[in-house]
Amino acid sequence: MLDNKGFDLWADGYDKSVQLSEENDEYPFAGYKDVLNTIYNIVHKREKAKILDIGFGTGILTKKLYDDGYEIYGIDFSQKMIEIAKEKMPLASLIKYDFSKGLPEEIKDNSFDYIISTYAMHHLEDEEKNEFIEKLENYLNKDGKIIIGDIAFKTRELLEKCKTNYNEYWDEEEVYFVFEELKESLFDKNINFIEISHCSGVIQISK
Ligand SMILES: C[S@@+](CC[C@H](N)C(=O)[O-])C[C@H]1O[C@@H](n2cnc3c(N)ncnc32)[C@H](O)[C@@H]1O
Repeated sequence: MLDNKGFDLWADGYDKSVQLSEENDEYPFAGYKDVLNTIYNIVHKREKAKILDIGFGTGILTKKLYDDGYEIYGIDFSQKMIEIAKEKMPLASLIKYDFSKGLPEEIKDNSFDYIISTYAMHHLEDEEKNEFIEKLENYLNKDGKIIIGDIAFKTRELLEKCKTNYNEYWDEEEVYFVFEELKESLFDKNINFIEISHCSGVIQISK
């Protein structure tokens, strides 16, 4: 799994490498733009909102929301990603932190209308994802939502099919969402899945 130094090295070429895989409709980034657009449109149902982005990277989605006047907080552990994002969003609260350890002190007194995360949470094991989502839920405002866009599959069968198709490119270190399994683990939550491409989707969770 890439550590923060790995992401530092990827930071400059990140947007380009995503674009190539996206345009060819290939794993891992097939549907990337639609994933981001879907989340953008959901957020836009509110005129004003306070947003926390988990693993904002170069800030492709967050920058758009920032420009639209939303209040932006973000967490990422790559110094290089933070530098790139900070330049685009000088007034956003961007915090360097490893989310596998939970959430940083700096956000502890905050609550959010949306907690968004794109292509970052597959770096957690499934059990860690469940625990992290439980933690995030405590930071939601009354009608708040967690929205996760990522490499994701409705069923394990669909994940296995994609793995077979992309055998030599499949990243064994990443742990992708399987919606039906997540839903079973988070059985007490309001949760739904929008399938975006053969290897991506958007998961919405509210209390
Ligand atoms: C593939 S990029 C996605 C960036 C952006 N959200 C997007 O959709 O383009 C994953 C990002 O998550 C960050 N990340 C991965 N694991 C992390 C962790 N444990 N703690 C904090 N950030 C992490 C990386 O530094 C990187 O910026």
